[in-house]
Amino acid sequence: MTIKTQQELELLKKAGRVVAETIELMIKSVEVGMTTAELDFIGRKNIERHGARSAPELTYGFPGATCISVNEEVAHGLPGDRILRKGDLINIDVSCELNGFYADSGASFQFDETDPKLAMLMETTKKSLKESIKKCRPGKRFNLIGQTIEDHARRAGFSVIENLGSHGVGRALHEQPEFIAGFYDPQDRRTMHEGQVFTIEPFISTGARQAIELDDKWTLATSKKFRTAQYEHTIVVTKNSPIIITANALF
Ligand code: CO
Ligand code: CO
Repeated sequence: MTIKTQQELELLKKAGRVVAETIELMIKSVEVGMTTAELDFIGRKNIERHGARSAPELTYGFPGATCISVNEEVAHGLPGDRILRKGDLINIDVSCELNGFYADSGASFQFDETDPKLAMLMETTKKSLKESIKKCRPGKRFNLIGQTIEDHARRAGFSVIENLGSHGVGRALHEQPEFIAGFYDPQDRRTMHEGQVFTIEPFISTGARQAIELDDKWTLATSKKFRTAQYEHTIVVTKNSPIIITANALF
């Protein structure tokens, strides 16, 4: 969507705050032996406490309130009986609808351990998100985002997941502009405009380039030897720095 009034901006920010708070709460709530379904339930309660609704559930009939992807899983991880263990790389992606407005955000973290390679993977991914956000202005090309993400990945010796990208959001979970690649696409001539709302979500991997759908028909994963990090914010383009709708205390 394109934000045209202050009121629209305030409503989008409200949805963004629910998303940000839910991610923070879920990250803090992870405990040894907890299942992803239990963690999802903590997220659901928080979303519903605000009168909001899970966007993937509402939009796609996703069987969970949030997406929780562990280790080789990259995105759209289905909450279930998978037990969380120390050292797991966990990605929590929360998107919700409130008063007809949608915000979307995600984050990866390693549960209670610090593996140097994973730490670097997460740091690189987070930095690529921050740097991509800084470059967004009216008139700029969308492919700047992929260029920035790919640069960061390559310099650190990592790869980019090519079949997952950023996307328009605001009045629906996924809307125009569709699929903004995480790599430099010279064919993509689309440009940004003032008030435009979209996500930026780099998926940077220790070596994988594709995420494949698992038998559960939802979870996207790589081969078990790879790990992928993702951080995502919903932003609004302005003449100055973009507004980060899903800003939180963690990233
Ligand atoms: Co998301
Ligand atoms: Co998204």
